[in-house]
Amino acid sequence: MNYFAEVTKSNIDEYLREYSIIACRIRNSRIKSKQIAILEMIFAQFDNEILAVKNGPLGDIKGIVSFFCPKKNLFSFRERLFGIGYCYKFYLLDFEDETCKNPTDLRSINPLIWKGRKFSVDYFYTQDSKIYEEQSPHKREFKIAGSNGEVKTVFGYRGDGSELGRRSLPVEDARCMVNLSIPAKNKRILDPFAGGGGIVFTFRYIAPNGTMASIDIDPVLKPGLEFYSSAHYVMNAKDASFPPDSFDSVITEVPFSKNALNDITIALAKINASVSNDGIFVIMCEKNQRDEIFSAMSELGIYLLFNSEIDRKGTDVDMSVLCKSENFANSMSEFIGELKKIY
Ligand SMILES: C[S@@+](CC[C@H](N)C(=O)[O-])C[C@H]1O[C@@H](n2cnc3c(N)ncnc32)[C@H](O)[C@@H]1O
Repeated sequence: MNYFAEVTKSNIDEYLREYSIIACRIRNSRIKSKQIAILEMIFAQFDNEILAVKNGPLGDIKGIVSFFCPKKNLFSFRERLFGIGYCYKFYLLDFEDETCKNPTDLRSINPLIWKGRKFSVDYFYTQDSKIYEEQSPHKREFKIAGSNGEVKTVFGYRGDGSELGRRSLPVEDARCMVNLSIPAKNKRILDPFAGGGGIVFTFRYIAPNGTMASIDIDPVLKPGLEFYSSAHYVMNAKDASFPPDSFDSVITEVPFSKNALNDITIALAKINASVSNDGIFVIMCEKNQRDEIFSAMSELGIYLLFNSEIDRKGTDVDMSVLCKSENFANSMSEFIGELKKIY
């Protein structure tokens, strides 16, 4: 299955009969991560049957990616835009209005014409920047256990700054990782290295009817992760043991340390036994941990769908999506092959 549309002057009318076209602006912080931004939208909107548009309109504006959405799914498409991580502003193109109106902040040096067809453009949805700010690791409410057992409410908990205890996953990455797990379908998640709860918090925001479980070795985090409504376990993730088919996806940012690799690979193997047969893993790790994690996953028979490096303010990290189902991996391979050619 290919989730790309290749539009020409001769097939554009066919597409425009069935689809609306939405241009999406990627956040400046992730403007170099166009491929993940596209994959995130496709997976976030999986059941809305959208298509990424190759060489889309407004191509001279940096950080713009466009999608076709079946007109019948436009309402449901819009309902999901609040939780997208890498894109944050969305514009609707109108090919029936040939007056080329553009009251938006999109500044194209070209006339508003695509594949020989004039269009106008208007705002479709813009994310609330206040919500983004409130959800950020330096503002979010959290609860930690004090040394004498009392629970303290804190804002902006970012861990102790140590190699194993850093906890400040940016909002856009947490949202993107949740969306890459296909939350419209996969409702039962586990984060085995949950830290300050960026992923469980975000999963609840995007999929409030889902269920979340979390693990962290650090007992200080227990009240905070329970506050985010996660079924939480204080333990070493390598001792995890859950019944088969307990989770649809595992979404996690592992501890960024070479020393943690052994625990991480054992934990993923243990947890794999409790993930459904068509389950998804979304993993963020440090770049130098990647190869060992991938080879451990491959030994478990898990397929790497896609991975990409991200520059997180100077730390080179890798975000990857893996899946258990060979059928799903095969069904995505043509699209992923095309995606890797996009820059
Ligand atoms: C990178 S942080 C996760 C940050 C989290 N995504 C967030 O948004 O705050 C990794 C976490 O793994 C935990 N950890 C380290 N080794 C562990 C192990 N063997 N089992 C479970 N948790 C572990 C650390 O305490 C830390 O909180």
